Amino acid sequence: MKRNSLYLFSIFIVIFSCVDKPTNQGLIAKNGMVVSAREEASKIGVEILKKGGNAFDAMIATDLALAVCYQSAGNIGGGGFMVYRESNGQTGALDYREKAPLTATKEMYLDDDGNIIKGMSLVGAMAVGVPGTIAGIFEVHSKFGSLPIETLFQPAIDLAKNGIIITEKQSNRIKSHQNYFKLANKEKILFQEEINTGDRLKFPNLANTLEKIMNNGKDEFYKGETAKKLVNFINDNNGIISLKDLELYKAVWRDPIEFSYDNLKIISMSPPSSGGICLEQIMKMVEPYEIHKMKHNSLNYFKLLVEAERRSFADRSFYLGDPDFVEIPKEQLVSKEYLLDRMSTFSFDSPTPSDEISYGKIEILESDETTHYSIVDQFGNAVSVTTTLNGSYGSQLYCSELGFFLNNEMDDFSSKPGSPNMFGLIGGSANKIEPEKRMLSSMTPTIVEKDNELLMALGSPGGSRIITSVLQTILNVHEFKMSMNQAVNSPRFHHQWMPDSIKIESNSFNPKLIEELKLFGYNIDYKDPIGIVDGILVLSSGSLEGGADNRGDDTAIGF
Ligand code: GLY
Repeated sequence: MKRNSLYLFSIFIVIFSCVDKPTNQGLIAKNGMVVSAREEASKIGVEILKKGGNAFDAMIATDLALAVCYQSAGNIGGGGFMVYRESNGQTGALDYREKAPLTATKEMYLDDDGNIIKGMSLVGAMAVGVPGTIAGIFEVHSKFGSLPIETLFQPAIDLAKNGIIITEKQSNRIKSHQNYFKLANKEKILFQEEINTGDRLKFPNLANTLEKIMNNGKDEFYKGETAKKLVNFINDNNGIISLKDLELYKAVWRDPIEFSYDNLKIISMSPPSSGGICLEQIMKMVEPYEIHKMKHNSLNYFKLLVEAERRSFADRSFYLGDPDFVEIPKEQLVSKEYLLDRMSTFSFDSPTPSDEISYGKIEILESDETTHYSIVDQFGNAVSVTTTLNGSYGSQLYCSELGFFLNNEMDDFSSKPGSPNMFGLIGGSANKIEPEKRMLSSMTPTIVEKDNELLMALGSPGGSRIITSVLQTILNVHEFKMSMNQAVNSPRFHHQWMPDSIKIESNSFNPKLIEELKLFGYNIDYKDPIGIVDGILVLSSGSLEGGADNRGDDTAIGF
């Protein structure tokens, strides 16, 4: 009898816990939430919300915390994009992308025969674009900040002083980059020490730099002592960034890309990111098909997405670049007639080879980098931010005195039109290098509305794979009715026109499906991970559900 009651009691507990938090859901919170690549950063962001700060205040604190605890991508030596939606429905976007230095030229990575000098846009001081993160943070604060800048900087400064505990993924990443650190840096850097899982790593010089910026404002980084030290360091390493470059840098408010898909409104990043336009093209190309009737990740679903993706990425290569420098035929690229015509050659019966859409076969070099975080506050504001050094640890060049890595964002330009960058993306002359120009990006920080209300904030790292990761996550929630947690953790695939192959995550798809895809004529490559999506979904109850991708150390924290 006693055992029976215990048994019934256990069943009750199991059922009760399922009702409270179904196993396929992520963290649920009533008021506000931050989902980022690291627990420390999410915690710091949420603490700011709890102090009464808004999502923009939390953005600043989270961004700076990531620059301390996630130095492979979080940064003050790089740049990023923010898309936002205020509680009153107003939307906007901030571009704090890096720029080419004043003395940059379109041939700067070419030898005398016009061939690309291998590695020059990737490793070392010549790869560095003028950093935008600090300008971005101060721009956000002056427009939307509600708490003093000191309150927003101090947690990251404390974190840098007290140190972070290295996770297994971080320790592996550091170890796998140590040869590059040696190659790029004249003197041994902190990250070349033996660093193991569980070690505490402190960053006193980064704390000092952040403290100076907090006390002296943005000018400390762009005109002051830190600027001078940074320029001396870059020049000493044969780079070309000057004090004038730093002085001229400005973050720019942009109109986001906005479009509807079914009963959703998608708000995403505009050029110089290709993210929003490509997302719009792909979603509009697949919208006429009844996706909800297809099985998730089935053969036909693959065919539809792959063929739309390949067409969009081919357009990306030819038409997109910095809108301050090139005329982008945006209206034509996303018009219904154009996209219908683009898909007129699509058939479920046979694939369209990429060289029938355009030219050439290429090799691909890849890397995982960049980081995304999503925030929804207790007032109903949402921000979606993707920030990066480009490759993991950027140019690998670490300014020990100032305590941070510098980006290698110059590789996102097309060094030689028609040749691939590190993501295998082919650029056209729209994305050629010009002084003060911003390099084309794939970062896709996105916000989704349903019936005029906030539904989702999401985004991902992963270079070209960002766009397709965001796409699949939105479709997972909207078409396949997944929870945010399921949506971010589902297996993903990717096609980017060139190279002409589908990238799929290994051990995630049925071998029979893979055989069917090959039989259909697709080349299959394996790539892990495809994106690391961090998102927040507003549930019908009004509560927030966090989706922290388990491909990384990502963590949702809410209250
Ligand atoms: N650096 C990767 C991107 O901006 O797309």
